[in-house]
Amino acid sequence: MEVGRRGNHVFRIRRPGGDNLGLTEGESVMSEHFDPYDFVRERQSVEQFQELTWTGSFEDYVNIVLRQPTVTRNAFQRMYDMILSHGVEDFIEFKKKIYRYRFFEDPIDDGADGIFGLEVPLMKLVGFFRAAAQGYGAEKRVLLLHGPVGSCKSTIARLLKKGIEAYSRQPEGAMYSYSWRMDLESDHLDACPMNQDPLLLVPIEIRDNFIDALNEKHGQDYRIKVEGDLNPYCQRNYDELMLRYNGDWTSVMRHVVVRRLVLSEKDRVGIGTFQPKDEKNQDSTELTGDINYRKIAEYGSDSDPRAFNFDGEFNIANRGMVEFIEVLKLDVAFLYDLLGASQEHKIKPKKFPQTSIDEVIVGHTNEPEYRKLQKNEFMEALRDRTVKIDIPYITKLDDEVKIYRKDYSEKKVRRHIAPHTLDMAAMWAVLTRLEPPKKADLSVLQKMKLYNGKTLPGYTSDNIRELRKDTEREGMEGISPRYIQDKIANALVSDRAGNSINPFVVLNELESGLRHHALLKTDEERERYREMLNVVKEEYEQIVKNEVQRAIAADEEAVSRLCSNYIDNVKAYTQREKVRNQYTGQDEEPDERLMRSIEEKIDIPESRKDDFRREIMNYIGALALEGKQFNYRMNSRLMKALELKLFEDQRDSIKLTSLVSSVVDKSTQEKIDIVKQRLIQKYGYNEESATDVLNYVASIFARGASNKS
Ligand SMILES: Nc1ncnc2c1ncn2[C@@H]1O[C@H](COP(=O)(O)OP(=O)(O)O)[C@@H](O)[C@H]1O
Ligand SMILES: [Mg+2]
Repeated sequence: MEVGRRGNHVFRIRRPGGDNLGLTEGESVMSEHFDPYDFVRERQSVEQFQELTWTGSFEDYVNIVLRQPTVTRNAFQRMYDMILSHGVEDFIEFKKKIYRYRFFEDPIDDGADGIFGLEVPLMKLVGFFRAAAQGYGAEKRVLLLHGPVGSCKSTIARLLKKGIEAYSRQPEGAMYSYSWRMDLESDHLDACPMNQDPLLLVPIEIRDNFIDALNEKHGQDYRIKVEGDLNPYCQRNYDELMLRYNGDWTSVMRHVVVRRLVLSEKDRVGIGTFQPKDEKNQDSTELTGDINYRKIAEYGSDSDPRAFNFDGEFNIANRGMVEFIEVLKLDVAFLYDLLGASQEHKIKPKKFPQTSIDEVIVGHTNEPEYRKLQKNEFMEALRDRTVKIDIPYITKLDDEVKIYRKDYSEKKVRRHIAPHTLDMAAMWAVLTRLEPPKKADLSVLQKMKLYNGKTLPGYTSDNIRELRKDTEREGMEGISPRYIQDKIANALVSDRAGNSINPFVVLNELESGLRHHALLKTDEERERYREMLNVVKEEYEQIVKNEVQRAIAADEEAVSRLCSNYIDNVKAYTQREKVRNQYTGQDEEPDERLMRSIEEKIDIPESRKDDFRREIMNYIGALALEGKQFNYRMNSRLMKALELKLFEDQRDSIKLTSLVSSVVDKSTQEKIDIVKQRLIQKYGYNEESATDVLNYVASIFARGASNKS
């Protein structure tokens, strides 16, 4: 066997006939079980390929427009329709109707860039597109996404780009441009460099009438409206052909090949991105195109459009969208390009007249940058020409958790993630973002829980809305999801982690990272963040204590017995009857002590007990009407209360604290193993994390016991 070498790479040289991987002559490596051609053929749509590469004459295009006038929509209408095409749902939060646009869940990419929470800012964003689509003036503004670092601004821009890309491939999102065949004998085509609509080729003095005629003819609701002028390159070709044919437009149109336009960021078609480099290195040609020096010799002049590349971001993004990353880092000299582009829908390539554009301009900027520049000349000019939408951090715990669940599912990281690990990291992140409540009797933790939908006595939906309103910059400061993501990633690769990570490993990472956190402005802030870590640790202690207690008590028969006992009492209580004592057969008053000892486990105050009991009876009654029977698992709060009560009753029968001592007797060990199994089966632990958490809770109890003594 011969061996070849390329750099460090060694490979086997195969000769026809020989060295054939042990196959007999004539048999190919391709097995019967896998035919690559079939495999691809079955998954590829030839029809779609043909649709997306469709070409035709100008007349063909006019027929398409008559059938589907929306192919002529402008960039804002298209963006708006694209978002709506994915559907919208609504829900009520704190008595307010909120719309959720499914598009932002990233259906195009299976949720890869899905956005959680942020419904309200996204409603504003969609409102902007709606106003712009209807031509109310928003289409003359730069859309500025503004927020702290890591608040999802780039993700939103990325989604919009992906969205219009995918939409342009759909039949309902179809759009068209054209190429020139200057020499009818040749197959050579020159594409319109700015993806313009073929209707712009209708002579300007006739265009309005032409469009009116189309609108009359198609008989649909949509009104076609074509704005702007041909770009200089196409204008030159057009003029040359008009001269060649002595003003016969029909002959000129024989040189036009209309084609389906498919937007693609990768191919720089209809989607542009501009990222300012260092300040001295900015060059306007990146935005509006550049002279092609090689071609000047050929065409004799640097003002011949054929010697110019219309390939700046504004040019190529025409009919789609251009994103300005860190837009406030843009050199002031470009400001005017940007403002003209938004206000007038015109750009000015070097040496050429102003050129029409039709594209959505989205800029984003980080909050600190924005504040720095607030008094700057740049901002003055920009302020009333932008629509600023604040993109804050998430302040609702359940939404924040979703970010990390998506990034760090066990399947993805191939590690066990102990229950509550991601939740605790998320909880800390949210806590650092909340402003301390002005009411002295409300802690930050309680405020976080209220925001998260938990009820607290004395707090109504209106109160919670007021709490939200009564803040200055809530959501604009605090720890970013990116910091949390980085630290979770660190925890996953650290030696300590082993095969699993737990809240302690992650909370330690979060804490040690604070020492070098670049965005922390003051020591006070750092201190506050540390304090919040302690709040999280205490909360975690509560949660796992509860969980272990419930696992200990989760003897189904016992819970079920306690449940029916409780329900019998509640029923008698609400109907003012007596309860039959099962042992004595005597009728007795409902056992208030028993009912309260259960209800107190889930913080039902004395003043709310009647409501709680009535709710339960109503629920049971409703079930009975449907012929169903109540079971304690149907009400998770009641279930929790029952389990905690049972735990209390049997606390002494299982000596968890003995776990922290080195000798455990056989019967205790057996009981502990049962609890461990419950933790694994019902609460998502594995052997290792269940052992850890039992030890941890045992140590808490040991501490508690010694505290008492
Ligand atoms: N509301 C949110 N929903 C989903 N992911 C979010 C959210 N906020 C932040 N992220 C995540 O945080 C990370 C940073 O987001 P990015 O869009 O780059 O922020 P920005 O551009 O605002 O600095 C991304 O991984 C993103 O998925
Ligand atoms: Mg960003």
